[in-house]
Amino acid sequence: MPRLRDIAWAGGLPFVALATAASPAAARDDVTHRVCSPNERICFALTTENEIPTYSVTRDDKPVIAPSRLGFMLRGDGKFEHSTALGEATYAEADRTWEQPWGENRLTRENYREMRVPIIELIGGKRRIDLIACVFDSGVGFRFAFPDQERLKDVGIDEELTEFNIAGEAEAWWITAGEWNRYEYLYNHTPANQVGTAHTPITFRRKDDGLHIAIHEAALVDYAAFWLQRIDGQRFRTRLSNSSEASKVRRTAPFETPWRTIIIGDDAPGLYAAADIILNLNEPNKLGDVSWVKPLKYIGIWWAMHLDQWSWNSGPTHGATTAHAMQYIDFAAKHGFDAVLIEGWNKGWDGNWIGDHGRNFNFAEAYPDFDMERVAAYAKAKGVAIMGHHETAGNSGLYAEQLDAAMDYYARHGVPSVKTGYVADAGGVLHKDAAGNEIWDWHDGQWQSRHHLEVVLAAAKHHISINTHEPIKDTGLRRTYPNWVSREGARGMEYQAWGDPPNPPEHEPTLAFTRLLSGPMDFTPGIVSLTGKGGREIPSTLARQLANFVVIYSPVQMAADLPENYEKHAQAFEFIKRVPADWERTRVLAGAIGDYAVFARQRRGGQDWYVGGVTDDQAREVTLDFAFLPKGRSYRAKIWRDGPGGGVGGDRFAMVVEEKTVTAATKLPIRMEAGGGFAIALTPGG
Ligand code: NOJ
Ligand code: CA
Repeated sequence: MPRLRDIAWAGGLPFVALATAASPAAARDDVTHRVCSPNERICFALTTENEIPTYSVTRDDKPVIAPSRLGFMLRGDGKFEHSTALGEATYAEADRTWEQPWGENRLTRENYREMRVPIIELIGGKRRIDLIACVFDSGVGFRFAFPDQERLKDVGIDEELTEFNIAGEAEAWWITAGEWNRYEYLYNHTPANQVGTAHTPITFRRKDDGLHIAIHEAALVDYAAFWLQRIDGQRFRTRLSNSSEASKVRRTAPFETPWRTIIIGDDAPGLYAAADIILNLNEPNKLGDVSWVKPLKYIGIWWAMHLDQWSWNSGPTHGATTAHAMQYIDFAAKHGFDAVLIEGWNKGWDGNWIGDHGRNFNFAEAYPDFDMERVAAYAKAKGVAIMGHHETAGNSGLYAEQLDAAMDYYARHGVPSVKTGYVADAGGVLHKDAAGNEIWDWHDGQWQSRHHLEVVLAAAKHHISINTHEPIKDTGLRRTYPNWVSREGARGMEYQAWGDPPNPPEHEPTLAFTRLLSGPMDFTPGIVSLTGKGGREIPSTLARQLANFVVIYSPVQMAADLPENYEKHAQAFEFIKRVPADWERTRVLAGAIGDYAVFARQRRGGQDWYVGGVTDDQAREVTLDFAFLPKGRSYRAKIWRDGPGGGVGGDRFAMVVEEKTVTAATKLPIRMEAGGGFAIALTPGG
């Protein structure tokens, strides 16, 4: 048995004095390092079992993650897992409050205790990988640091072997991973031991005590996203997304992996609040002054295409014409919207743009019936911004080639925000190698993780924000790059136009406690016509369409319906015009995954509050407790709720709009019909 003291590290790393490891005891599994949350309730322990690194997580001394293995399959250098021992732990802690330039909360408290432990091989090359764990009162993040060393310099990670052994019988809400439609699947609700391979966030609810546990990751930079693959029972492990390269990840040491996160809450509302660990595990803003990143509400040349009334491609039904753009700008200006999204303005949509993998897209050339100069000047004169659009059809390589020209073009036309898109089946991300050969990658693989940051940084140079569709999952990078404002990454409203099946009413109350734990979603709410393509009925009430503006957070929030439909539904439209897209603070008032969700949010820098509630296909009554309001002050509450006889299966348009005076002491019962919901705007006074 080599003596660990003899291990010398390349690259000037400090020698790690291994008090326990220096003795033969090191090879026994009797070293455990532990770090607990500031309130001491959640603890992370690292040990070795049969010389395999093994961690566990407890809350109030009860297991949350039962002993779970850690390790890596390393290209050309074998598995890193067996015959390991732990070095000495070092500790740190932090307690600070930081401000989001925009967000669902202005202030976020970052309070954790941290532990770093070297995991060292006792055999062979004596490689070392460090584990860093941060424990918050609301969960755990841990990552691996690959120090600079001779045997691990150019690292090829074929697989990461991080296990999550969920303790206690649980049920799970999850979408399938590794399939063609990326993140756009309906959620499964199954016993935890019947999950297949899932995307994260995946949410578990324990049977005996109702504990909520969501597994996800934070700060996914230059690495492959992981899917959660079930091994047996309730034991899962990371499976890295695919790569065109032999290894799923290629890095040069020193580097760190993304954080593997375990978000813990007593109930669904608690879980949503606990998800702030995702932001807290990301690095602070690297862009400096980001006052140019502005939350905005927008309409768009969009729903008419999804209804098949207009087209993205050129021709008689072309949507993005100068005339249409000017009409939409007029409507936006009249009703106080900040921006108009214009899709299908640029060359490349004709023919089969999906089948051709976007090879014809040109991001700086408009169709002849779209006069960008004129539209931009008109928008400027009306005080409305254009929201740009770059659909790539997954051809990230072509987009990267044109990136600077594309951003420069939009910047010259005063465009502050661009929606990007990567419509392609999983595995259909196209780029070229140095010799010009076509290479295929994955939407959530390492190559695409790099591509997204390249786009975000190129946009930042031009003071442009990015809203990504068909994205890589959100892992909180908006903290570091605040111009990455939103993304899709789940089934959004478009499925109510043409989805087969459309999103059922349980979709939004499921999203609230799964996908939305990861960050903002450009869901594109507000289809007040309740009608999709070819006249299909959307399974929602009118009031619920309003609720989604509060429930589903995005700093770029679309009012997605056609202008003429808003004109027809003036009462509903009033709420859509009033509701902000940027918040001072957020409170989840009530909810159960897949059943219902009630959110309250206070306008950023204002005193008005907004409440939104949605239910699944069950009608239910919730009692709203207004204790979140400041004490001793009256508020005027304007309420939009499902009317009698309303609900899916009834009159979906039935809506009661009424006013009431409430205070922090008010408890107000409110009924949601099947597939329904409600929205409330609260202003001081009354
Ligand atoms: C899919 C996006 O989700 C949708 O919003 C967009 O209109 C189309 N792609 C076309 O880019
Ligand atoms: Ca999509």
